[in-house]
Amino acid sequence: MGSKKKTEIICRCNNVSRETIEQAIRDGAQTLNEIFDSTTAGVGPCGGSCRRKLAPMLDSYLKTGAFPDKITEDRTGKPDKKV
Ligand code: FES
Repeated sequence: MGSKKKTEIICRCNNVSRETIEQAIRDGAQTLNEIFDSTTAGVGPCGGSCRRKLAPMLDSYLKTGAFPDKITEDRTGKPDKKV
């Protein structure tokens, strides 16, 4: 395995990496809107398909103080229950 973690791009429209989003949440973003404002993720021309990933990241952090290794996309509009 490589020693470096590959940067995962969460928002393809605006090329926003997972790192950037995690940082914004650590810095205090508590809603999706705050993530949109501080990172520009979620407000690109696709209409926000990456929100399915932003929401579970935010949710996980607010609940557990940590980000999931693997982001489970929220396709239903409901939080994924598998904690
Ligand atoms: S992928 Fe994030 S707004 Fe399009």
